[in-house]
Amino acid sequence: MNRGVIVVLSDRPDRSKPLVDAINAVAECRVVGTDETWDRIGPFGGVVADITLSRPEAKSCLRRLASRPGRQRAPLIYLTRSESHAAFTEARNLGATICLSAHVEPRMVVGSLVREVWPEKSVADLVVTREIKRAGATMTNLLKSAETGPVDMKAVDGGIDPVLDAIHDGGLSRWLDEVWAYDDVTFQHCLLVSGTVAAFALSLGLSQADRQLLTRAALVHDVGKSRIPHAILNKPGRLDDDERAVMQTHAPIGHEILSASGGCDPITLAVTRHHHEMIDGSGYPDGLSAAAIADPVRLLTICDIYAALIERRPYKKPMPTRDALSILAAMDGKLEGGLVQAFGRAVESAP
Ligand SMILES: [Fe+2]
Ligand SMILES: [Fe+2]
Repeated sequence: MNRGVIVVLSDRPDRSKPLVDAINAVAECRVVGTDETWDRIGPFGGVVADITLSRPEAKSCLRRLASRPGRQRAPLIYLTRSESHAAFTEARNLGATICLSAHVEPRMVVGSLVREVWPEKSVADLVVTREIKRAGATMTNLLKSAETGPVDMKAVDGGIDPVLDAIHDGGLSRWLDEVWAYDDVTFQHCLLVSGTVAAFALSLGLSQADRQLLTRAALVHDVGKSRIPHAILNKPGRLDDDERAVMQTHAPIGHEILSASGGCDPITLAVTRHHHEMIDGSGYPDGLSAAAIADPVRLLTICDIYAALIERRPYKKPMPTRDALSILAAMDGKLEGGLVQAFGRAVESAP
């Protein structure tokens, strides 16, 4: 366990479930009973005690917690079902940092927990961090299995809602700030594209089903890069002609991986193969033009180029939004102008 883990001490896990779900949205959560000895638990960030103090085992469990070395660094929030002054006093005497009524909304408990454990962070910051970890785990597994074999599209789906929820609840700029911290170039890029697509789709008012479809396509669109040599993938600066030819194979390779894996929808397949096609026919791998490029592909292509422009590398700061949007606007004829304008509005107005 790391310091971010929150322990919920509960004598009724069924009753504590809404609280555990709310905590899980911001941090890893572990539920333990009043028989917990505390010596077998590693570091943790805080404890929320949802127990009835009138039971002797509950008191002795809190006493064992209070005597644990380093306990003072992890706050204890006690939820009391009796709101008498005596109950609050007893909880404080047993080491509670804060006492709250057990009848308050779980989100209120989470708010107090966040203020105590991560005073420099907001609930939204933590939600985004958590969602990125979930989406990131999906990306890591996807890229790893694609190196040598098929991918599991059902597992990919586990990464979709974390992206959509984080963009909806936390906003695009928070997502970008967190994702920029990751060094792996393909990992960072795919999460930048996914967050950008989710924000664009949200601003276009697309349905939840369409947002999920586009986010799935964004997560996997560069899966073919898992088979491109690292020397080319991670080369700082421009690729030469031979290297560029190898790099460009990632689109048909990605399409092959997904086709062979099965369970992939036609839009994701089309996006994976065609996200580098341009409306004027100058793109790759098939030199498609205008009507042959489906709308979702055009939309993904815009987000893909934007994400590549604003990526953060050890030698390169993210390009400012306005400069990246100017470059997209100058690609008139290659990208769909109306969609680029809508994209600019979406990015500039995104929280
Ligand atoms: Fe690509
Ligand atoms: Fe890409």
